Amino acid sequence: MTQQQLLKGFSKFSPEEKMRYVSDRFDDPLLAKKIFESFHHPDAAVQQRLSAFSENTISNFPLPYGVAPNFLINGTMYLLPMVVEESSVVAAASAAARFWADRGGFRARVIDTTKNGQLHFLYRGDADQLTQAMPVIERHLREHAAPLTANMEKRGGGIREITLKSQRHLPDHYFQLHVTFDTGDAMGANFINSCLEDFSEGLNRFLTNNEGFDPGDFEPLMAILSNYNDECLVEVSVSCPVNELDDAAPGLTGQDFARRFALASQIAEADVHRATTHNKGIMNGVDAVILATGNDYRAIEAGAHAFAANSGAYRSLSRTQINEGIFEFSLTMPMALGTVGGLTSLHPLAAKSMEMLGNPDAGELMMIAAAAGLANNFSAVRSLTTIGIQAGHMRLHLPNILTQLNASKEEARKAEIHFSNRKVSYQAVAAYVNQLRNP
Ligand code: MEV
Repeated sequence: MTQQQLLKGFSKFSPEEKMRYVSDRFDDPLLAKKIFESFHHPDAAVQQRLSAFSENTISNFPLPYGVAPNFLINGTMYLLPMVVEESSVVAAASAAARFWADRGGFRARVIDTTKNGQLHFLYRGDADQLTQAMPVIERHLREHAAPLTANMEKRGGGIREITLKSQRHLPDHYFQLHVTFDTGDAMGANFINSCLEDFSEGLNRFLTNNEGFDPGDFEPLMAILSNYNDECLVEVSVSCPVNELDDAAPGLTGQDFARRFALASQIAEADVHRATTHNKGIMNGVDAVILATGNDYRAIEAGAHAFAANSGAYRSLSRTQINEGIFEFSLTMPMALGTVGGLTSLHPLAAKSMEMLGNPDAGELMMIAAAAGLANNFSAVRSLTTIGIQAGHMRLHLPNILTQLNASKEEARKAEIHFSNRKVSYQAVAAYVNQLRNP
């Protein structure tokens, strides 16, 4: 690969020029081009659509698209689409789904779908006067934004509350308009950001046209939604009598399994190191469904981790309770998802995922993604507190190790048999393949 040089106007290059520029940087440009192009979609129209999702696209980056069956959520059986590169995630989701399907499945509910955003600004005028004028300002802002909100209102959504906040520990004169929204089945990022930018203009106009105010006192800084959707919450849980956990793990009674599981949960509530990994296990399932349905997993990740820290300490998002012989495992988390607009229908596979799920509305998709999170969390904690994570994980990783070792079909077949009852590690597999090659 040759050294990268400062380049101007790359985004204006044609797709062919971009490909040439990039491949020419490799030691073998023809091979590089061939590999990048081999991942192009054979249908040029589809490729054009995929390329348009982002800037400077030269290829596609495939990830496994798996499915996890047997997700019984609120009495409906779902086949979950999951896009993820980690070998054990779909297996873990499927195992937990199967386990809980026999015990009543997942119960889920949407707590609320309110989203929020802020107009951040400086106001150097009289803060009390601004605060007192808020009811009038709010009316003015709503009128100013009416052309933007009309359609959303027809769909039952729109702007909910507008609150003026000042935070004294922040820079002098700093204020924000904290605005809450209902965006229906849309994720609503564009709607929220457009409204907030409109409020900036609207506030400026109000200050210009109303006596006693000076627009020169107003300095808008940022208008942007928040990914901390602490009101847009979903809750999911599984439960069963403790004695129905007798077959949850080999060699453990249901009682013992529940006790050890609850202890692990308690540790994740108290210890940040464990809480982070515990929550990562939840996000394994959540992100895989979100990616498969064309939603923004970075937004969900950011919101989930902020919510996990809302007590002032970072804690696990899930909880375990054992009361009167009933084991209950539950998860509450923010989940600002959309099922209209965005990539959901534009990406051909996201559209198929939505169809696979019966074209859910945003609330239903929130519950499905949360159930995937709880399922993965359950499987991970079950393995950790019983047989350990590595046995299953490494077994599922065996094909990757064999690929890394360039194992032939025959070598892979023999290795699968050999390691069916042995501990898998890179060294052990490499030694075994070496032995096959040099008997
Ligand atoms: C690995 O992707 C996820 C786990 O680390 C989660 C956990 O530790 O709970 C297994």
